[in-house]
Amino acid sequence: MPDKNIPLVLVIFGGSGDLAHRKLYPALFNLFEQGLLARNFAVLGTARRPWTHEYLREQVLEAVREANPDTELDEHELTAFTQHFYYQAHDVTNPDHYQTLKKAISKLDQKYAAGHNRIFYLAMAPRFFGTIAEQIYEQHLLGDGFNRLVIEKPFGRDLKSANKLNDQISHAFAEKDVYRIDHYLGKELVQNILPMRLSNPLIKNIWNHRYIKNVQVTLAESLGVEARGGYYETSGALRDMVQNHIFQIITLLAMPEPADLTAGAIHAAKQALWDSVIFPSSAMVARNFTRGQYDKSSSTFAYLEEPNVDPKSLTETFVAGEIKFLGGPLAKVPIFFRTGKRLREKQSRIDIVLQSMNNLYGKASSNTLSIIVDPVMRFYITINGKKITEPGLRPENLVYRFSDEDLRQVPDGYERLLHDVLVEDRTNFTHWRELEKFWEYIDTVEDAWLAEDKGIDHLDQYAPFKMGPAAANKIFEDASDHWIYR
Ligand code: BG6
Repeated sequence: MPDKNIPLVLVIFGGSGDLAHRKLYPALFNLFEQGLLARNFAVLGTARRPWTHEYLREQVLEAVREANPDTELDEHELTAFTQHFYYQAHDVTNPDHYQTLKKAISKLDQKYAAGHNRIFYLAMAPRFFGTIAEQIYEQHLLGDGFNRLVIEKPFGRDLKSANKLNDQISHAFAEKDVYRIDHYLGKELVQNILPMRLSNPLIKNIWNHRYIKNVQVTLAESLGVEARGGYYETSGALRDMVQNHIFQIITLLAMPEPADLTAGAIHAAKQALWDSVIFPSSAMVARNFTRGQYDKSSSTFAYLEEPNVDPKSLTETFVAGEIKFLGGPLAKVPIFFRTGKRLREKQSRIDIVLQSMNNLYGKASSNTLSIIVDPVMRFYITINGKKITEPGLRPENLVYRFSDEDLRQVPDGYERLLHDVLVEDRTNFTHWRELEKFWEYIDTVEDAWLAEDKGIDHLDQYAPFKMGPAAANKIFEDASDHWIYR
């Protein structure tokens, strides 16, 4: 990462929140330690709580320590870092408070010679995103330097609300200044998809329907909804994981080769892919999609018993489906995906299944390329070789593991993405045009489900700590297909 000593004031809405504590403060510290944050930078945390600058600094200190339990931190550096933090109590719905905030920003701008450059980070409840963006504009919080908006998910809950939010934002910020976070795009092995596809003849030459039988994306979690029942009730697995993370992964797998590696060319290639998506009919949704809700175990609650969940909720905690495109190298290749809470284990992975072929040796497994994004990064190719003491074939894995040294060097996704915002690199953020298509697709599925739901009073329950409802094994077009990861 090049050294870019860019002066700025970073305003974090939600400065007392969980995301700031767990992700943003440790990521900012890592950037600071590597000299990637300007000496002339200030962070202004805002939230409703009446914290002082000092209290925020203590919190930041604690957050950095918690994120680095096994590292001896340079206390001098740490103190120097926290001195850049300030706090302003703020009610996002009160226009007067933006005047106070404006003064606080201007003071910091002067103190740090921050060049009137501003980054506004919305790390709080999504229902306030639109209001904050509008108030930033109306109360003249924008500076004379650059102004960038970093916005967490969910960006709306359907196309209509996403459109509305985008309108609210676009008064203050041009699309080129909006950084919609999808933290999966900051993950090492997600960032590795395109280089792997495009730089290896072994992979590039087979990347089409003649050789690839199907693609499978699995984002499994063993945790339940935990304390997020309230949010999850408005979302469900389809909106929470498919609309963003799964669609971005699929896009990287299926998009045409970009003209070059600029953000513009990459977004253009992604859009070209989504212009060719096949929207599913209700019959296709009924056939190719499955959903369910986790049941209880001896030690864990059923979804319907979780706090802030309607005991009659129809919200899905698991979804599996199929998507196809008419364009791009994987045109017409079935791409299957599934995600769920309370599954067997945490596992984010991609399995690319090759067509099988006749051979002289008898039963052979399909070659597969598997990319394990989390929790232990690696990829492997499953190939057939001869059995040692008897006739026939056996599958073997050619595994690429990351060394401990590699692993130490991999930055956290948030660190990467924050750095990208500083250096104005929009490659790994979601463009509005992508998001529009993602929502259009999700709306199509949700509408089909709504029609199906009439008369149903509960969803299929699936046993916790397994791989979801049995029906998820039946979405394949070819009965001989199955999930590679079982
Ligand atoms: C978030 C979802 O976007 O991603 C969560 O809202 C989910 O429900 C999380 O747990 C998973 O992210 P990761 O990086 O832990 O796989």
